[in-house]
Amino acid sequence: MSQTLLLLPGDGIGPEVTEQARRVAEVLAPDLEFAEDLVGGTSIDAHGEPLTVDALVKAKSSDAVLLGAVGGPKWTGVERHLRPEMGLLQLRKGMDTFANLRPAFCFPALVDASSLKREIVEGLDIMIVRELTSGVYFGEPRGFERGIGDKSFGYETSRYTKGEIDRVARVAFEIARGRRGEVVSTEKSNVMESGQFWRETVTELHETEGSGVALRHVLADACAMELVRNPKQFDVILAGNLFGDILSDAAAMLTGSIGMLPSASLSYDGKPGLYEPVHGSAPDIAGQGKANPCAAILSLEMALRWSLGRPDAADKLFAAVGKALNAGARTGDLGGSMSTTEMGDAVIAAL
Ligand code: NAD
Ligand code: IPM
Ligand code: MN
Repeated sequence: MSQTLLLLPGDGIGPEVTEQARRVAEVLAPDLEFAEDLVGGTSIDAHGEPLTVDALVKAKSSDAVLLGAVGGPKWTGVERHLRPEMGLLQLRKGMDTFANLRPAFCFPALVDASSLKREIVEGLDIMIVRELTSGVYFGEPRGFERGIGDKSFGYETSRYTKGEIDRVARVAFEIARGRRGEVVSTEKSNVMESGQFWRETVTELHETEGSGVALRHVLADACAMELVRNPKQFDVILAGNLFGDILSDAAAMLTGSIGMLPSASLSYDGKPGLYEPVHGSAPDIAGQGKANPCAAILSLEMALRWSLGRPDAADKLFAAVGKALNAGARTGDLGGSMSTTEMGDAVIAAL
């Protein structure tokens, strides 16, 4: 039976990097069928909303979704609920992709591309498991209270249910079992009720379902500090939506560039995953052919592995990216001068 990969290139550098991932997919999995739709600002321009019902239905009925990036200065004035980023949040929620895997892996060829010293990042291999469909990103009530002068305010609710914490912690435990078997769970239990509840819940789940896994709790701020001090101590980092977002951008820089970091957002078995680079639409370099397509290409790698049941193709692709980097392939963010297409060419040549 044929498999369909839905491409949602989005805004800014999104289409540029997604195009390279598509070229790689055509070489590596020629039988794969592609569908394409709009998300983010491009969808606002075409349909007046950042994600149409039709696009969400397509996403849910595909085998996997590969998204580029959303957002950009053109749409910053748009009403909050219609912003490009809302399209992405609606897609994550609609697909119920609650477990966001963000691997921070330092390719040997890039040990000197990081802003940190070689010995700090050499051999780095961290998996961040970020809860993606709840927490402060979605908690109600939220909103603004304006027109009361100095007392005007904006607010949202940081809220996690036991079920939401259990299901993502379970994924972190499972992933750790296939690695070093260590999970560091992060929150701010010292100041937040939702953080305290997170810690208690993860601890309880570990007692019943954590066999083979060593669990440690680290406050999210200390975790950020440890990520730049001694990142190789980490195997799997489990975090809620907001802290996972922030920690993964920090982890990205350990790998050399945010242009290297892919992600997989997974739901329950049998449901399609959503794959996207961790970076955004990079308005400062959009349209110039400068973007590093590796995060998009490695997101395809994760799709082949986690949704499309093609681990051999995924292994080949991972090796090809490493080989291209070994041969000196570099976009500007990695200190080189290759264009987005040339970087795609280099990976295809290595394949
Ligand atoms: P960004 O990730 O777009 O850019 C941060 C910096 O990294 C910029 O200097 C950019 O040029 C550079 N960069 C990012 N990706 C790169 C790549 N592939 N190759 C080379 N350099 C790269 O973050 P930002 O500037 O804070 O956000 C821009 C927009 O993107 C905002 O609207 C934001 O909401 C959105 N955003 C979207 C996603 C997503 O779609 N998943 C993720 C993050 C941010
Ligand atoms: C990410 C991005 C998104 C997030 C935005 C664009 C909604 O920063 O995927 O890391 O905050 O989750
Ligand atoms: Mn982010």
